[in-house]
Amino acid sequence: MLNLDYLPKPEYEGHMPPSKEVCELWRDIRSVVGYDTLLEIGLNAGHSSAINLELFPTVHVTSVDIGRHDWTELGANVLKTKFHDRFNFVLCHSTAYFERVQKGEYEHPHPDTIFIDGGHDISHVINDIRMGQWMGCKYLIIDDIKSNNVKLIVETLMTFGVLKLVKEYRYKCVNTSKPNNAVGLYKCQPIQ
Ligand SMILES: C[S@@+](CC[C@H](N)C(=O)[O-])C[C@H]1O[C@@H](n2cnc3c(N)ncnc32)[C@H](O)[C@@H]1O
Repeated sequence: MLNLDYLPKPEYEGHMPPSKEVCELWRDIRSVVGYDTLLEIGLNAGHSSAINLELFPTVHVTSVDIGRHDWTELGANVLKTKFHDRFNFVLCHSTAYFERVQKGEYEHPHPDTIFIDGGHDISHVINDIRMGQWMGCKYLIIDDIKSNNVKLIVETLMTFGVLKLVKEYRYKCVNTSKPNNAVGLYKCQPIQ
């Protein structure tokens, strides 16, 4: 088990633990996707970013978070100090972030893939998936695929052929009323 005690402890809001099953999940996803540049939507205290940075020495992570918790910027600062240029944090709503990248106001992170684990409103999830298509990601990693909105959107996009499920992973999340969580790895159809 990885030791991520250097991160702040969130008082609430679910996050990935550095457990054996979560490390196996990321190792398996990386063996399929082969990513070195990961864009994450939803840093929280930094656990899923830290797991990637600890497990894969060549991986760079850019994480975008709206920063509604005190511990998010603290976690981002700890990761920046520990991993230097392998980690970047953008304090922003993912919808505004996407608009600003399109306008050239924010640097395009050129991600190999996106881990979508931010807002669960329908418009936010659609924005994050659309951003992945626009950025040319062949694969998307989507957390919480059993929760209502995410499930609805992902299943709808699968019927339209925009997303194709490659593999579903179950893991035990922490700090949540629904600890049995699921992550989906999807092939993503690019924007034509
Ligand atoms: C479930 S937590 C992320 C957990 C993290 N990925 C982990 O496993 O360690 C969700 C995070 O998304 C952020 N968030 C919610 N809506 C967002 C949005 N529209 N844009 C960016 N971040 C958002 C919240 O502030 C929260 O920190």
